[in-house]
Amino acid sequence: MIRAKKFFIQTFGCQMNVYDGMRIAAMLNARGMIQTPDVTDADIIILNTCAVRAKATEKVYSALGRIRLAKKPDALFGIVGCVARESGADAFRRIPDLNFVLGPQSYHRLPDILENPDAKLLNIDMSGLEKFDALPQMEKSPLLAYIPIQEGCNHCCTYCIVPYTRGREISRDFDDVMRDVRHAADTGALEICFLGQNVNGYKQNGKNALSDLIRETAQIDAIKRIRFTSSYPTEMTDDLIDLFRTEPKLLPFLNMPIQSGSENVLTRMNRPYSLKLYIDIIDKLRAARPDIQISSDFIVGFPDESDDDFNQTMEIARRIKYINSYSFKYSPRPHTAAAVMPNQIPENIKKERLAKLDALLNDIQREFNDTCVGKTLSCMREGADKTGRNTVYRTPYMQQCIVNIAQNSAPDIADIKITAASKASLRGKISD
Ligand code: 5AD
Ligand code: SF4
Repeated sequence: MIRAKKFFIQTFGCQMNVYDGMRIAAMLNARGMIQTPDVTDADIIILNTCAVRAKATEKVYSALGRIRLAKKPDALFGIVGCVARESGADAFRRIPDLNFVLGPQSYHRLPDILENPDAKLLNIDMSGLEKFDALPQMEKSPLLAYIPIQEGCNHCCTYCIVPYTRGREISRDFDDVMRDVRHAADTGALEICFLGQNVNGYKQNGKNALSDLIRETAQIDAIKRIRFTSSYPTEMTDDLIDLFRTEPKLLPFLNMPIQSGSENVLTRMNRPYSLKLYIDIIDKLRAARPDIQISSDFIVGFPDESDDDFNQTMEIARRIKYINSYSFKYSPRPHTAAAVMPNQIPENIKKERLAKLDALLNDIQREFNDTCVGKTLSCMREGADKTGRNTVYRTPYMQQCIVNIAQNSAPDIADIKITAASKASLRGKISD
């Protein structure tokens, strides 16, 4: 009997990368390969990488160092994604026995290395949408289907490597996206999450068209929940905001990063919106859907950020009451304007500011979680918890809710009465 070849894949970084990882796994499955969680047992090892912060890149290279020693001698290994694009051929200089380096737009070429294992496969082209056509459809959709609708970014924030790794913004064709949505619905999806680095910048014929996608998706009976991530403030059209009032399937949750609460810092970040504009959008969203919750990403210690600038970030976090947010120390990245700006902030100050902001964000999250106790929320099943005895659900506000019920008897969507809250999650019971 011929032993099926095994692959190991580890994904770092954003939702888009998680999606790419799923597509890579599906592509290898379609070739008869089986996924293994054990690097030492794999015939091909893929690190699906993120370059957004220097630490993320370093993590990839130290993992590669460990994998080199642990893998079977003839196993192929390499990197795909943003570090591959950032490093290019340099990755082969750093790790000479590496077999492949494939950027985020060219991972559909991975099977080439299986055909020709002695080659060094390098492809960091920015060919754009070719991969979406080249990849096989997934046979069965998870309950939550991520559907990428645009890739890349035109905003050119001065700290961000993404325009370099993922390229300029490209929107996929409307009908192609809807074909993917219908395929997901037909094969088991109950929730659609539209994905893009700048998802609300999705355009068709020059016009913002995310709201059209949501309206059309909402007409599919099988789809019960719709959301999208991540949004750029100035692309938040009134039409899209209004959908939070009119479309009950659109979840009351929006990720719309502000990054900093200081207009001076925002200007240097090349994020040209005023706080007033940002707050006006939030006010309109809350008028449309009073229970809507907002999440953000924050960067602390951007070059020349003063104590006063930082306090304005704390202020805006208190005012908006963000939940499910992420905060990062500014990390200088190659190919970015901010990396060469004067007055880079010392590490100890960045660390202090991050700790303060994190503590505040945790308090706000805890407060919101507490307000959910006693309520009944319609939640969707996500998987088993660490113990395997409980099932984890997601609330409409993206909190995790743990229910003491075995996975195999847990309904996909359930009304759950929230019985307890902690900083990180909720507990609840399926309500009868
Ligand atoms: N340093 C720190 N954080 C960064 N991000 C992007 N680039 C950097 C950087 N150079 C953060 C932003 C973005 C999230 C994905 O990562 O907050 O929204
Ligand atoms: Fe990381 Fe950005 Fe690439 Fe996503 S797009 S993997 S966050 S660098």
